[in-house]
Amino acid sequence: MTHSDHAADLATLLQARSSGPLSGKARVPGDKSISHRALILGALAVGETRISGLLEGEDVLNTAKAMRALGARVERSGDFAWSVRGVGVAGFAQPQVPLDFGNSGTGCRLVMGAVAGCPITAIFDGDASLRRRPMRRILDPLELMGAKASASGEGGRLPLTLNGARDPLPILYRTPVASAQIKSAVLLAGLAAPGVTTVIEAEASRDHTELMLRHFGARIVSKMEGTNGRNIALTGQPELHGAEVVVPADPSSAAFPVVAALIVEGSDVTLSDVMTNPLRTGLLTTLREMGASIEESHVRGDAGEPMAQLRVRASKLRGVEVPAARAPSMIDEYPVLAVAAGFAEGTTIMRGLQELRVKESDRLEATAAMLRVNGVRAEISSNDLIVEGRGHVEGGGLVATHMDHRIAMSALVMGLASDKPVGVDDTAFIATSFPDFIPMMRSLGAEFA
Ligand code: S3P
Repeated sequence: MTHSDHAADLATLLQARSSGPLSGKARVPGDKSISHRALILGALAVGETRISGLLEGEDVLNTAKAMRALGARVERSGDFAWSVRGVGVAGFAQPQVPLDFGNSGTGCRLVMGAVAGCPITAIFDGDASLRRRPMRRILDPLELMGAKASASGEGGRLPLTLNGARDPLPILYRTPVASAQIKSAVLLAGLAAPGVTTVIEAEASRDHTELMLRHFGARIVSKMEGTNGRNIALTGQPELHGAEVVVPADPSSAAFPVVAALIVEGSDVTLSDVMTNPLRTGLLTTLREMGASIEESHVRGDAGEPMAQLRVRASKLRGVEVPAARAPSMIDEYPVLAVAAGFAEGTTIMRGLQELRVKESDRLEATAAMLRVNGVRAEISSNDLIVEGRGHVEGGGLVATHMDHRIAMSALVMGLASDKPVGVDDTAFIATSFPDFIPMMRSLGAEFA
């Protein structure tokens, strides 16, 4: 049975309805980006890596499985506590099974980079959503470094076979779009190359790979490039040593209870340990511009990743314009921001959302459809999303999730404050990133049926 058949079997309808004030304290699960990276770098390091707070969602569990298939020892030692014994840079073994990444673009693309620097052949595959997503953007630079890919799908789509390079070449690569996945794939392949691999990005994307590579002992220098860009230079063939990684709570998951607390009247919710890396906080900036009450306290850091406690209180929101330059720092948060925009007074314009079209679903279309079916006026104008907020949302619609966890959770958040309940056609994919979303939201007072 493939992953997609499995998820379809579990397809479950759910409705969210107008709830009393949300209140209490919660910790959302570990950050997905950092969890993938901790497993991958642990597998490429010598010695033991101990991870606490790992996200035990399907996406990350698929990466753990892939690391095992590539020769690393990966064990769960307690709740969210994992240990990895790595094989060293360029030390991956020939996998005996295809690597199936399920729904996860991040796991798949980062591991492609790591495999590209090893003299092995691996088959990459995923579910129906991942099979539709573009892989050429990753394969192009990896082929420049000496890897070879043969894909059966059009445009380099999965399933594909990747032959890693015997003698990988260091390259200087300008990413065509601001994508941490492209940047990370090149850097992970560059670990195995002699000399310096350089990635230049016109707009800075999340820098967790750079921070964690440094934490594991690599020499990596990141400088500003132009106004918003970065020039990142990695010295190849380092000895990575196993490290301790504490995974902070995922700001992209926190986004759901944050917006829920803002729109459900009378709410007062506290979320602990939320990662506040500035390349991930575009949503908080935007919500504050809209009038949101979000207080940060208990600020601290681990392995270069800052985190804080967030206290969120229900707030009257107003429409704003979100500049395209902010998109990389909140790329996964637009569906739930669009929900907040529906409850705001006035128009919200979100600019430069072309990358949303190649996420787990065409998120631009799926987000607009989610709003419209619930009575909110939403328009797509080239790559901008324009939402007419009227201070309340009618609801009553059934939202198509299109195998996309963030559409499912956004729709359920909307239903907690809309006049009529909001349904989603399939909650199965929520388990890819936030397995306890429903019970955690219920513990804060959310009503689902
Ligand atoms: C991620 C990067 C982003 C984001 C994804 C996680 C990462 O994708 O959407 O959920 O961990 O590097 P892109 O790099 O393709 O924008």
